Amino acid sequence: MKVFVTREIPDIGFELFKKAKINFEWHKKDSPVSRRQLLINVKECDGLICLLTERIDREVIDTMKNCRIISNFAVGYNNIDVDYAKSKNIIVTNTPDVLTESTADLTMALVLACARRISEGEKYLKDGKYKSWKPKLLVGMELRNKMFGILGAGRIGTAVSLRAKAFGTKIIYRSLNKNLSLEEQTGAKKVDLNFLLRHSDILSVHLPLNEHTYHLLNKQKLQLLKKNSIIINTARGEIIEEQYLIELLKTGKVRAAGLDVFENEPYVNPALLKLQNVVVLPHLGSATVEARNGMAELAAKNVIRVLQGKRPLTPV
Ligand code: GLV
Repeated sequence: MKVFVTREIPDIGFELFKKAKINFEWHKKDSPVSRRQLLINVKECDGLICLLTERIDREVIDTMKNCRIISNFAVGYNNIDVDYAKSKNIIVTNTPDVLTESTADLTMALVLACARRISEGEKYLKDGKYKSWKPKLLVGMELRNKMFGILGAGRIGTAVSLRAKAFGTKIIYRSLNKNLSLEEQTGAKKVDLNFLLRHSDILSVHLPLNEHTYHLLNKQKLQLLKKNSIIINTARGEIIEEQYLIELLKTGKVRAAGLDVFENEPYVNPALLKLQNVVVLPHLGSATVEARNGMAELAAKNVIRVLQGKRPLTPV
């Protein structure tokens, strides 16, 4: 049995393979595995742990001779052709739950950074511009009593709502299903997409990327955003039609954006980098020791269980 891991992951994952006496190897360079190398490695492997940087499409799946499980080291799995894998009897798994709290924390960090102009303030100070305290210096927005809009009230959207509630916001959400537990815990109200966009002072995106959510926030929808609102995206960049968001940020219709993900990641549109009212991060949602260890453990356990003929813990 052999497992290929497309990047070094926290030791806890590798330790589990050792304990289970499963051979494994991983791509040791500090850059994503090349397509050529990926195709070579997946050919003989029995299990694969991959990241969102790898496109596991028909070509990759067709190259697999023995692979029984594709274990994504991420909760999102838009990088994998899941239907095709399933048609070839290959199980696909992801890493839900273990990164929920970390991603929700980072979302709030972006909310606060945008509302209180943290990046602008830090740059101002580091540029040597802070000469005196003044009443109108970098004045931002208080969160209390603001309308906090959650687009996608799944695990992460719910965890963000609980945090937002603690800041005294009122919560509205748009989700396919009613989230009763969220409503009970926060008093959140379910609304439709247009209402959410028109009324949110802060809009936070927590949807998976798929054919229904690609460019869900297109030009027409983005124009509905409330004047002076803040938009946060810690989900997937392709959900927002970025060029139109940039226009709204330039004209000041949207107050600020906090973006952990981008439409053509890792490429970031230079226009975004020039805007003062944008806070950008290199996809750090799950970047805590706790979450990354949890992801490594879960991704490895899924592989081990399937190779031992058991059911995976978190199939998609
Ligand atoms: C990260 O973006 C993930 O989907 O886990």
